[in-house]
Amino acid sequence: MSDNSQTSTRGNWGTRVGFVLAATGSAIGLGNIWKFPYITGVYGGGAFVLVYLFCVLLIGLPLMIAELMIGRRTQKNPVGAFKALHHEKSIWQMTGWLGIASGFLILSFYSVVAGWAIAYIFKSIVGFSGTTEMIQGQFIELVTSPKSSILWHTVFMGLTIAIVIGGIKKGIERWSKILMPLLFALLLGLMIYGLAFTHGGVQALSFLFKPDFSKLTAEGILSALGHAFFTLSLGMGAMLTYGSYMKRETNLIKDAITVSFLDTLIALMAGVTIFSMVFNYNLEPAAGPGLIFQTLPVLFAQTGPWISVPFFILLSFAALTSSISLLEVVVSYFIDERKWSRMKATLILGGMIYLTGILSAVASWQVMFRGKEQGWLDVFDFVTTNYMLPIGGLLTCIFVAWVMPDKDKVEEFGSRGIMYQGLILLLRFVTPLAVFIVILHGLELLPFMEYK
Ligand code: TRP
Repeated sequence: MSDNSQTSTRGNWGTRVGFVLAATGSAIGLGNIWKFPYITGVYGGGAFVLVYLFCVLLIGLPLMIAELMIGRRTQKNPVGAFKALHHEKSIWQMTGWLGIASGFLILSFYSVVAGWAIAYIFKSIVGFSGTTEMIQGQFIELVTSPKSSILWHTVFMGLTIAIVIGGIKKGIERWSKILMPLLFALLLGLMIYGLAFTHGGVQALSFLFKPDFSKLTAEGILSALGHAFFTLSLGMGAMLTYGSYMKRETNLIKDAITVSFLDTLIALMAGVTIFSMVFNYNLEPAAGPGLIFQTLPVLFAQTGPWISVPFFILLSFAALTSSISLLEVVVSYFIDERKWSRMKATLILGGMIYLTGILSAVASWQVMFRGKEQGWLDVFDFVTTNYMLPIGGLLTCIFVAWVMPDKDKVEEFGSRGIMYQGLILLLRFVTPLAVFIVILHGLELLPFMEYK
């Protein structure tokens, strides 16, 4: 076991707030503002939201605590951490490997979508005008033009690489402190506008919070679970890595609750805002990945660039604080275990991820996947979110519950009290069983269910 002497060379968050900001920054991103509303629309609303909330509480929160415990205990990257807590040749290091692969693939398509957000900063400056169809057409134009998609993907990946080369801690702490509260305030303003001043507010609330279980499919349940992992940055060692830069004194339970709460709050606010617009302007809730880019600009055509420019700047920033956590996981392995320099690791891995992302940036490159022709973006998204992250999470949870020594856990948790016993009980039985069942259900393999 390593001790805290490593801490000084690896660097630490400056303050407790520093960790919370960085972890919240990792969690809040495109997952909340782009993905949550769009998949909620696709999977039919309220019932999906309810399952997602259950997953956050019963699976996400305990797992976040588990990842933070491993990270802070070992002060290592995901592969090194499993080795340190078990032994050098431990099979559990595969969990770390799976995480690094997930981070690699997620970042490749994440950067493409974040690129769209940056493109929309510039579209906002010009302003949106014309009919709803014309405004929506701008999005189609962007995604079907490989030249622009690749250009913006290049810009975003370049920014991510530059920040990770600089070492993530100083920059993130400073900027997050200013920009995250601004994003919150702007979203709050837009939500209040949607609720109070449009005709869509009431309908949005009932769409999101009145569950209609007849609309819930096996795939919907699997996606709700996958999304809980995605939005909380779990299942691939990102929280583990951020936890490894955490100081001992802080209370990791409180921090995990804060991060999960803020993340969920932002997602729900984004959902209310976007569906108010969808219902107000009679748009299609199940429009898919283009949803925010095709609905908010219809509103922005009336409000003008004063609202839309800041909105897309803040969205891009939120994406950036998430993408650096994805790249940091991949890079920290090569720095810690292979002794590469930060510069070399970031440039090589970042470059490979960038190239892989081009597959997702070119919408016309399609493959047969689950019975239909789909772009690479959707394929990578589906496989990582719905299978790789839940499997990574399942393994992490089993490891902490059954393999990690009791002494290590208790010391990280801070006590052996009732809360600790409850957490271990969840991690031993409830969380792994729930994840396992949902994965089987998603594969339509549960024996007692009837699948069409
Ligand atoms: N949570 C981020 C979002 O919602 C995305 C993200 C960052 C992520 N780091 C991650 C997802 C690690 C899974 C794993 O946009």
